[in-house]
Amino acid sequence: MWSTAREVAAGDVVIAWMTRDIIQPLLITPGKDLNTKYGYYRHSDLIGVPYGSKVRSRNGKGFFHLLRPTPELWTLALPHRTQILYLADIAFVEAWLDLKPGSKVIEAGTGSGSFSHSVARTVGPTGHLWSYEFHEARASKAREEFTRHGMDDIVTLTHRNVCKDGFTVTDTVDAVFLDLPAPWDAIGHAKNALRKDRITRICCFSPCMEQVLRTVSALNEAGFTEITMYETLLRPHQVESTPPLTPISVVSDRLKQSEARREEKRLRQIANARAGAERRAKRKAEEEAANEKDGKRIKSDGEGESDPVPPEVQAQDERAATDGMRLDGAADVAAASPIRAASSAPVEDATTTEGSEPQKITLSKTFAEVRGHTSYLTFAVLLPAAVREVAATATSVTVSAESTPPPPPATKESKMTDVQSGVEST
Ligand SMILES: C[S@@+](CC[C@H](N)C(=O)[O-])C[C@H]1O[C@@H](n2cnc3c(N)ncnc32)[C@H](O)[C@@H]1O
Repeated sequence: MWSTAREVAAGDVVIAWMTRDIIQPLLITPGKDLNTKYGYYRHSDLIGVPYGSKVRSRNGKGFFHLLRPTPELWTLALPHRTQILYLADIAFVEAWLDLKPGSKVIEAGTGSGSFSHSVARTVGPTGHLWSYEFHEARASKAREEFTRHGMDDIVTLTHRNVCKDGFTVTDTVDAVFLDLPAPWDAIGHAKNALRKDRITRICCFSPCMEQVLRTVSALNEAGFTEITMYETLLRPHQVESTPPLTPISVVSDRLKQSEARREEKRLRQIANARAGAERRAKRKAEEEAANEKDGKRIKSDGEGESDPVPPEVQAQDERAATDGMRLDGAADVAAASPIRAASSAPVEDATTTEGSEPQKITLSKTFAEVRGHTSYLTFAVLLPAAVREVAATATSVTVSAESTPPPPPATKESKMTDVQSGVEST
């Protein structure tokens, strides 16, 4: 699969890795250019460059890493013609289906060929993948890619409706993988294609639970066992260096200071209120005395015109109150959130020595968007024909023996064990 030479040659498929989100496959074609937001490149400039090199653009706008394709990179870079399988599912399916060098495998449908590339590498030149696709244009495109990627000896791609017409091999393969809208219609055909002289496996990949239920029924009816459904979820982490977290002693000091400031503010407000009340009472008394002098009647029930607080005092009180709130609020947040305090303010903590930069610590965080689950995976096992026959006989013996003394348990178990031990299970 793909070139194994050290340097890129005309006609090679390479992967241009620009960022984690921009990964582009290129078929090196002299005379062609590549224009991206990270610059302008000529394919001919890439010929003779060792795989793994960092290539700078002609117009100085950026660079990319020139990588040799692998099935993993191909899955990230391939042109999507359908939904595809991603690495978490591919790895899990391959492990569960027990694929290895020399395995013989069926997949349907081929789709964009994401799964096919991984299987082809796993089974290698001594194994084989029969891949089926009923959409003609997709089948041709995938065939073209398989040829260009040097997979012709490993993969046979057939344009075919497998639900209607079945597969092209019988009693041959070790495993079947179905990524179809109606896998239950292909399960009988899959059973025909699986070899009967050893344990074989099947996996059906379906996005909806209703599809899973129909698939499980069909698997049961066809005599598969160990039917199990999984969902794979992926949580990649990105590792970053950040300033250290604020030590707990500093956080505690900040909390204490914040509480002390709040208490100070409360006492100041009480004192201000008292002073204001005294000022108003004094002024009222002065006014009453003056009015008495003038013979003017003063309301004494408190409903009279209230003494306005001088505007400059009111403004000052308000400012003090809101400033106090804002200061205290900010301090509370900083104190209660060590990470925020660490990133928003210079950190003075045990790890900082005078005149030196705070040491960095390494943290990992998860990505916001993850390509993990796309479907449910229903797995099942088909036991060798001989084992199934014996199991069926053993069951009928048990059933027919209901009215007679049951056979010794060892008989049934030893029969099963004898047959199983004579069967190669890998
Ligand atoms: C989701 S895609 C497969 C993606 C593939 N597993 C990958 O990783 O790239 C499903 C494919 O199955 C094909 N398909 C659907 N029904 C089919 C059938 N009865 N026989 C063959 N192919 C079929 C569709 O045309 C489609 O390309």
